[in-house]
Amino acid sequence: MSTNNLSSRLYPSRIDLPADARTKIVELLNQTLAATLDLKTQVKQAHWNVKGADFYQLHEMFDEMADELEEYIDMVAERVTALGGYACGTARMAAASSILPEYPTEILEGMEHVTALAERFAPYAKHIREAIDTTDELGDADTADLYTEVSRTIDKRLWFLEAHLQPAEIKSENGSTAAKSQQKVGVR
Ligand SMILES: [Fe+2]
Repeated sequence: MSTNNLSSRLYPSRIDLPADARTKIVELLNQTLAATLDLKTQVKQAHWNVKGADFYQLHEMFDEMADELEEYIDMVAERVTALGGYACGTARMAAASSILPEYPTEILEGMEHVTALAERFAPYAKHIREAIDTTDELGDADTADLYTEVSRTIDKRLWFLEAHLQPAEIKSENGSTAAKSQQKVGVR
């Protein structure tokens, strides 16, 4: 059976949510499970391989982030099974259905790892936010609440990552604006 069929498999349950809604929610949760497993292993990859002057603080921060994601992996998988679904949680299943791109292998320094993670936390945050509305519309306030909790943490972590990058990004943005206005007035 392919992961596709497994991700929407439903067992009989006495839970008071209609089976058609549960099928859709379980499929969405399995998509989240794959992305969360993928993201957690990518954060660990950064935790192990980061190098440079800010090694220690990033090594520690990446580990905290991985621990949070580990907790959410369990929460998401157990919500799948609470709804009567089948949790698709092996590494191969996650790799086959994750929405995230593979982690780059040629990067070395702190800010390169921070950038790579910010580029993965952002689409993950978008997926989680969209899932709040989808599960709410399907009448499952509990899953929407779970997604809301994850969403708050992920937005906070994206902030932590971007706070490392913003000074350089803002300076280069201001630099290019200054260069453009200098060009306009003919300053050389
Ligand atoms: Fe470690």
